[in-house]
Amino acid sequence: MVNVAVLGYGTIGAGVVEVLQTNADSIEKKAGERIVVKRILDLREFPGDPNADKVVHDYKVIEEDEDIQIVVECMGGLEPAYTFVKTALLQGRSVATSNKELVAKYGAELIGIAEEKKVNFLFEASVGGGIPIIRPLTQCLTADVIEEISGILNGTTNYMLTKMEEEGADFDAVLKEAQEKGYAELHPEADIEGFDACRKIAILTSLAYGKQVDFEDIHTEGITNITAEDFLYARAMKKCIKLLGKSWSDDGKLYALVCPMLIDQYHPLAGVKDVFNAIFVHGNMVDDTMFYGQGAGRRPTASAVAADVVDCVKHMGTHIKIIWEQEKLPLSDFGDFRRRYFVRMPKEVSLDAVEKAFGPVEPVQVEGVVETAFVTGIMSEKEYHAAADQFDTILNMIRIDV
Ligand code: HSE
Repeated sequence: MVNVAVLGYGTIGAGVVEVLQTNADSIEKKAGERIVVKRILDLREFPGDPNADKVVHDYKVIEEDEDIQIVVECMGGLEPAYTFVKTALLQGRSVATSNKELVAKYGAELIGIAEEKKVNFLFEASVGGGIPIIRPLTQCLTADVIEEISGILNGTTNYMLTKMEEEGADFDAVLKEAQEKGYAELHPEADIEGFDACRKIAILTSLAYGKQVDFEDIHTEGITNITAEDFLYARAMKKCIKLLGKSWSDDGKLYALVCPMLIDQYHPLAGVKDVFNAIFVHGNMVDDTMFYGQGAGRRPTASAVAADVVDCVKHMGTHIKIIWEQEKLPLSDFGDFRRRYFVRMPKEVSLDAVEKAFGPVEPVQVEGVVETAFVTGIMSEKEYHAAADQFDTILNMIRIDV
């Protein structure tokens, strides 16, 4: 029998307990041992909950309980999660977590401690919820040089963009709906400003290249500027608008970026709707691959955490090697990267003036919207800004994915 402590009895923590208890028999067969949730850490009481008697309010109780072999961290945030997880690893316990903030910031250090202590620090659920993507990157695709990762990494914003595109729904109403369904982060800015996707692409890029990519180095824009008109233009251009977390190598340089992008309607990511996430990975040998599934929500995320617990049980006494060094991997300036841009300006701006600044452009028109809208030629971000700065008002700019 293996005893587990779950830190945080919120959406995901309660989901992990539910998965481990509901599927206890089949999990036992796969893990080779019975897995029992012995203690749950939460500040709240849960009267009437079948696991109420397991709830403790002080981490010390778990720290001092010598029968606990695995700690599941679903508290979110950096502290006290970091202190508790580090303590558990130093005590020789394996840890499974869904906490992308923790993993993005301290992943390399915590993996190092786990290696030293011959235990495991697993975090499949930290990116893409229930989608297997960490193992593919750290195990299945290790023979490849990864040349691109493009992910729809946030379920809340993908849900919102889908509703806005298909139903012309209002931004605030769809955000509220996503929050009610339990997809959104506690603070909605983390989703809608792209911070959540930023941490996730930082984790994936660190794993793909084996070194620390700091999320603070990734230029990040969210979806708050996206309007109903943008979707009309996107449709006219046979494109979709998706919030992408991307990293890619070009000419020996590594770039990363989080922002809404226009992607071709036939791109594999274009069909990823609602709360679904997908991660498109291009390796130099395997070519294109895509991993798809539920990127948020209680059960899908809990399923990935519980599978990590199973892996911890299967590998008691051995460390599953994950290459992620603390040495920083510098990113190249994305301002130098060349692409096309879709730009909207007030109708008073003439195409002549536009072409004087940007060079030749392709105008785009949609019924019912009177504006000067166009797609630029291929230019660097710096060149784009030099041209755009010559105008008083840019209604919106959306990058076109290459
Ligand atoms: N708020 C996140 C999302 C939850 O919407 O994808 C999963 O990380």
